[in-house]
Amino acid sequence: MITFDNNIFHLSAGGVSYLIGIQNGIPLHLYWGDELSGANVQGLIQPQTVIWGVSEETAGFELPVCGQGDYRSPAVEVVFSDGSRVVNFAYQSHQIFHGKPALQGLPATYCERDEEAQTLELNLRDALTGLEATLLYTLFENGVIARSMRLDNHGASPVKVSRALSASVDFCDDGFETITLQGAWARETHVERSPLFHGIKTVDSKRGHSSHTKNPFMALVKPSVTEQQGEVYAVNLIYSGNFAANAEVCAYDCTRLQIGVNPFDFEWILAPGSSFQTPEAVLVYSGSGLNGMSHRFHDLYRSRLCRGKYRDQVRPLLINNWEATYFSFKEEDLLRIATIGRDMGLELFVLDDGWFGKRDNDDCSLGDWFVNQTKLPNGLSHLAAKINEMGLRFGLWLEPEMVSPDSDLYRSHPDWCIHTAGRERTQIRNQLTLDLSKQEVCDYVIAAVSGVLESAPIDYVKWDMNRPMLETPSQATAHAYMLGLYSVLETITSRFPNVLFEGCSGGGGRFDGGMLSYMPQIWVSDDTDAYERMYIQYGTSLVYPPCCMDNNVSAVPNHQTGRSSSFETRGDVALCGNFGYQMDLALLNEEERTMMRQQVALYKQMRQLIHDGDFTRLQSPYEGNECAWQIASKDKSDVLFCAFTKMVVPNHRRKRIRLAGLLKTAVYRSTDGSILATGDALMQIGIPFCQAHHDFESAVVHLRQVLEKDEQ
Ligand code: DGJ
Repeated sequence: MITFDNNIFHLSAGGVSYLIGIQNGIPLHLYWGDELSGANVQGLIQPQTVIWGVSEETAGFELPVCGQGDYRSPAVEVVFSDGSRVVNFAYQSHQIFHGKPALQGLPATYCERDEEAQTLELNLRDALTGLEATLLYTLFENGVIARSMRLDNHGASPVKVSRALSASVDFCDDGFETITLQGAWARETHVERSPLFHGIKTVDSKRGHSSHTKNPFMALVKPSVTEQQGEVYAVNLIYSGNFAANAEVCAYDCTRLQIGVNPFDFEWILAPGSSFQTPEAVLVYSGSGLNGMSHRFHDLYRSRLCRGKYRDQVRPLLINNWEATYFSFKEEDLLRIATIGRDMGLELFVLDDGWFGKRDNDDCSLGDWFVNQTKLPNGLSHLAAKINEMGLRFGLWLEPEMVSPDSDLYRSHPDWCIHTAGRERTQIRNQLTLDLSKQEVCDYVIAAVSGVLESAPIDYVKWDMNRPMLETPSQATAHAYMLGLYSVLETITSRFPNVLFEGCSGGGGRFDGGMLSYMPQIWVSDDTDAYERMYIQYGTSLVYPPCCMDNNVSAVPNHQTGRSSSFETRGDVALCGNFGYQMDLALLNEEERTMMRQQVALYKQMRQLIHDGDFTRLQSPYEGNECAWQIASKDKSDVLFCAFTKMVVPNHRRKRIRLAGLLKTAVYRSTDGSILATGDALMQIGIPFCQAHHDFESAVVHLRQVLEKDEQ
C-alpha cells in the first residue's frame, strides 16, 4: 500500500519498500529494499555533507535535472524557446489511488482488478515555464513497481525535450556490479556481470529496435549475490525501440541507475498544451538473489503484461518449415511435412517465409502480400483448409514492417520507407523499413495484414522484423515509429483476437516487454543449436518467463553452427518454453521418430507446468561445464528438472545439482521411480547428474510430491 506521512511516501507490498521524501519541494529518493515496518526514518537519511561541493551531489533524487548542483546524469533535459535549459521541478500535488492508468499509446503492465495495485501520481511543476512532470509509480501486490513520467507543456512556447528517462534510482552506496544481457544475432541475451567503477556504464540500442546486441535490462548486485541469495535491484523497459540503461558512480561513491528511451539521436518538440509520455520501466527488488528477481518479473509479465486469449493458455505444439525448406517448396512438400507432424502428435503447421510475391530469395517481394501462384497454385486458403482437414491448425509468417525495393509496393510508394532526402537508402537483407511514423503507412500495414488474415483460416502469425533502422529523417523518427507500430499492433491484435501472434526479429532482436504486450510469445533466437540455446535461454530467463519463449528442435549438423548434438539433448533444451520442430521430419530415422513421440508426449504432459510454474536457474552455463534449471508448480508439488553438460570430461565423477525452493519435509518421487527423497535432501544433497559419454548430454527428471493418498 502507499501512504503519505510527514512528507514521506511509503510504497510497501510483497516484502518491498520504496520511500520518497519531499524536502524543500523536491522529491528525494530515500530508500528501496526489504519491506520496512513504517516510514519513520528521521535522522537516518540526509544528503551526506561534502566538503567542497554542494549536497545535491550526493542526494538521492526521484527526478534529477540539469542546472541544480547535481552533476550526475539527469533524467530530463529540455531546451526552452529562449535557449535556457535550467528547470526546477517542485512538488505541486499528488494522488494515491487503487488500480493503474493505461499509458497513452504505449504498451504497459496493467491490473485486472483495482485492488491488485495502487498508484502514486506525483505532480511537479517548473514555476517559471509552466512545464509539468508527472511521475507515476504503480505498486503491485508482489512489490514490483511500474514507473513512468509524463511531461506536459503548460507554457506558451514549444519546449524541446532531448532526454526523458522513465526511471532514475539513487543509491548512497558503491561496490555494485552490473548484470546485463549482451549479444548479437544468433547469440542473444548472454549474461554479462562486471564491476562498476567511477564513471558511467551504459547498455543501449541505437538500432531502432531493442536489438540482439543488448536487452533493455540492467541489474545492480553486490559481488556476493548469487542466483539464490542477496539483494538485487533491477530495471527493465517496456519498449521495443532505442533505449539506454545507465549505472553511474560519482566522485562521492554514490550510484545512480537509470533506464529510458535513448537520448542518443532523440528530440521531441512539445507544443504548448501537448504532452510526452515515457515508456514504462519495471523496477524489481529481490532480497533472494537473481531467481527472486526473475520470479517477480515472470509472475508480472505472464499475467499482467501479456494479454489476450492465449495469455493463460498452453500453446500449440508446432512444426515450422523454415529450416526444412527455406524458400524452396511446393504445396506438396508442405503437406508432406505437416502430415508427419500430425502423425507425431503436433498441433500447428507454420508456413514461414517465401509464400508471397515472387520470393525465392530474400531479395524481393516484401510488401507484396499476395500468394505466390507458382509455389501455391491453389492459394493460401486451399493449403490452410488441407492442413485443417488433417487436424492441424495453420500459421503464417509475415514481415509487415518492411518493403523490398524490388516489389510492387515500393514501385508505387517509394517514399513510404524510412529515408533521408538526397541520401542513399541503405539496404540490409535487401530491404528497407516502412516509415510507421506516418499514419498512411500504418493504415496500409493494417489493411495489408488484415487482408491476408481474412483470406484464409489463419490461427497463428509469426510477425518478423529483419533489419535495424538507418537514415532516419529526424531525431523524432525512431520513437514516432514505435508509437506507430504499437498503434498498428493494437488494431490488428484487437481485430483478430483468436490469432496467436508470435514476435520475431531475426530471432531475439526485439525480445522485450513492448512486444510481449501484443504477442505472448517470441522466437528466442535464429540459433537453434542446443548448446548455444542453453546460454541464450538461460539469459532470457533472467527477465522473461518460459511461456514467452518459443523453442524448436532442428536438424543436425546445426544450420547456424555446424555442431551436432543428440536428438534427446535438442529436445531437452527446447522443452522449457513453447515447444516445436523446425526440420524436415521425413529425414528422421526410426530411433529419432520414437524419441520425437516421447518428447511430444512429455511436452503435452508438462506444458501446463511449464506455462504456469516458477522457473529457477540452478547452475549457470557461464560458470562451468554444467547448466541446470527447474520449473516447480506454485504449490511446489510438481517439479521438472533439466540438466545439461557441455563437454565430456573423461573418467570424472558424477556432479550433483541442488534443487531450490521445494517443500523441505515433503517427499518427492521421480516419475521413473529412481529417486525418492525429501525436499531438503534434494536441495542440500542434490541430484547426481550423468557422467557424460558424449558432448552435450542432457537429463530431464520429473518429480512429484508423494501424498498420503497416493500411498494408500
Ligand atoms: C528470420 C527469422 O528469425 C527466421 O526464423 C525466419 O523466419 C526468417 N527470418 C525468414 O526470413
